[in-house]
Amino acid sequence: MSAVPIALEMQNVSKSFAPSGWNPLKRAARKPVVAVSDVSIQVRRGEIFGVLGPNGSGKSTFIRLISTLLVPDTGHVTIFGHDILREERAVQRLINRVSVEAAFFKKLSPIENLMYGARLYGLGGADARAKIEAILKRLDLRANALNQPMEEMSRGMQQKVAIARALLTAPILLLLDEPTTGLDPRSKREVQTLVRELRDTHDATIVLTTHDMGEADALCDRIAIVNDGKIVALDTPAGLKQLVARNGKEPTLEDVFMQLTGKQLVTEA
Ligand SMILES: Nc1ncnc2c1ncn2[C@@H]1O[C@H](COP(=O)(O)OP(=O)(O)OP(=O)(O)O)[C@@H](O)[C@H]1O
Ligand SMILES: [Mg+2]
Repeated sequence: MSAVPIALEMQNVSKSFAPSGWNPLKRAARKPVVAVSDVSIQVRRGEIFGVLGPNGSGKSTFIRLISTLLVPDTGHVTIFGHDILREERAVQRLINRVSVEAAFFKKLSPIENLMYGARLYGLGGADARAKIEAILKRLDLRANALNQPMEEMSRGMQQKVAIARALLTAPILLLLDEPTTGLDPRSKREVQTLVRELRDTHDATIVLTTHDMGEADALCDRIAIVNDGKIVALDTPAGLKQLVARNGKEPTLEDVFMQLTGKQLVTEA
């Protein structure tokens, strides 16, 4: 056993889906889509772990499996030593999942959203409210924004409020599915700073997915490069770059990715 505890362990985890448009009456059904294929990883407490891959490579499925939204076909997942299937309630208190499309209840205010989160974690009453006000202050929310519907806030701010739920409890495994996709450069940096702060000051372990090579390089302690549901490489950003030789020039993660997958990673403008 290593000295640092393991926050997340996945052992031989696989998940397939029936192909879309699948018709059980048609014999010549197409093959199932293997979204996650025999994945085994260990993420240490306090790590920022990145999952980098192209569209359809299985990143969101990977996050949904860890967050108990999907049940693996095979394999085991444990979070701080708790099996996600046998100890679902314990696990749900130890994780906070944030996805791009579901940044909470958009008609509710930040305070209401975090109060809901607090109840989910079994916190209540005046204590919870004081804690939530302190958290929102930390995000530099204007006082009058605290009670406005989330949908009236910028996307970057919505994302920060959603992530801030992780400040309600500790330790926490924070699962971020493309936390900065579609954000402007400034909001992107703010979200990245918040993620780092959560790790540094709040006993958070972070697993995030991204298309963004620069983000993975700057933010992650280790990165798993995934392609067609499989991990094709797993190392520190520096370790990954050592995998490719580039006569004299320092390789980029883009070079590593191309060499390992034969694909170019689609990034947004
Ligand atoms: N609920 C589902 N039903 C059927 N197929 C699915 C389902 N969820 C994912 N898939 C398929 O599994 C594969 C992996 O999808 P997933 O969404 O995990 O990839 P991703 O890396 O998150 O992609 P993106 O970058 O577009 O977000 C894809 O082929 C997808 O079509
Ligand atoms: Mg996805």
